[in-house]
Amino acid sequence: MKFNCELKRIVDDSYDIEIGRRLQKTLAEDLKNGLVGKIKKFAVVTDSVVAELYGREIYEMLLDEGFKADLIVIPEGEKSKTREMKEFVEDTMLEKGYRRDCAVVAVGGGVVTDLAGFVAGTFGRGVPFVNYATTLLAAADASVGGKTAVDTPLATNLIGLFNQPKKVYLDIDTWKTLPKEQISSGLAETIKHGCLGDAELFEYLEKNVEKIFEGDTEACEYIAERNCSVKYKVVMKDERESGLREILNLGHTVGRAVETVSDYRLYHGEAVAIGMVAQARLGQKYGFISEENVKRVESLIARAGLPTAVPDYINKAELVKKLYTDKKVRDGKLRFVFQKEIGDVMQFGDNNYAKEIAEEEIAEIIAGM
Ligand code: GLY
Repeated sequence: MKFNCELKRIVDDSYDIEIGRRLQKTLAEDLKNGLVGKIKKFAVVTDSVVAELYGREIYEMLLDEGFKADLIVIPEGEKSKTREMKEFVEDTMLEKGYRRDCAVVAVGGGVVTDLAGFVAGTFGRGVPFVNYATTLLAAADASVGGKTAVDTPLATNLIGLFNQPKKVYLDIDTWKTLPKEQISSGLAETIKHGCLGDAELFEYLEKNVEKIFEGDTEACEYIAERNCSVKYKVVMKDERESGLREILNLGHTVGRAVETVSDYRLYHGEAVAIGMVAQARLGQKYGFISEENVKRVESLIARAGLPTAVPDYINKAELVKKLYTDKKVRDGKLRFVFQKEIGDVMQFGDNNYAKEIAEEEIAEIIAGM
């Protein structure tokens, strides 16, 4: 006997991204006005640095609104993006009586929004969550697009879910409390967006990158908006990465590998910057990008305070081996996304944006970096 269980799904996961300054009150108002339905219990997940800057304030605001809320703090840094830390957040929620009638409020950078979004996706088989992004990296990439994950000892982001938030708040006022290296790290993803899909953004950065470090309102708003626009043009067409979304991985094949091999001494954006240089140099060999444009990419990366070479302490052979942990690997073959000059990407067939690369080719590029 056979029973067909027909479960076709029509989903509407649309949500707003609000860009502005000091959006804490807006968040509390939105929750009061039913952003996540009738839910009145909120697990505010944040890290040990952001807690005192913004997390506690948001938590107290929710209490003032008459909600039940708890502040759950994880240690700052990429090393917190683990299955163990996910368990810690989940167990804390369970012990405090959270069941399915709750929502998660992630307040922080990419580590917090990736981890908290993943917790929300599996807690009680899924509860809503919102992201309050407090870093440029989270604003540029991590908090938007619905990828949530944790790292494993083997590599970054291997375990996770596509899980869209109910709303994302990009508070650019928070960038003023970021150390310079964190601004640089977020700029790497911003430069990536310019390289793969927005030549104007790239040229704007060439003229104005220093203004981002100065906290110039107009420049910060401009890049926040352009990042979302580039990213969403892609995500709206291919949320689950069946093809096009792979282009957002530009620079990430070498980037994610070098980040893991560095044992997270490199910030995510620093690692991506190295990966961006690697794909540009390899792309030049194939004629995908001119020497002049490779120089422009490298020079902008350097001006953003980012590395263009593999640090001395990295074992290059180990780095090449680590490339095989990339999610784009197919049938054991490395696959790379390449920018096409500046502001576009190479396409290698129907719905295929990644090219198979022999290990020796990328090993040679890495050897010269
Ligand atoms: N960070 C790459 C993506 O969101 O697809």
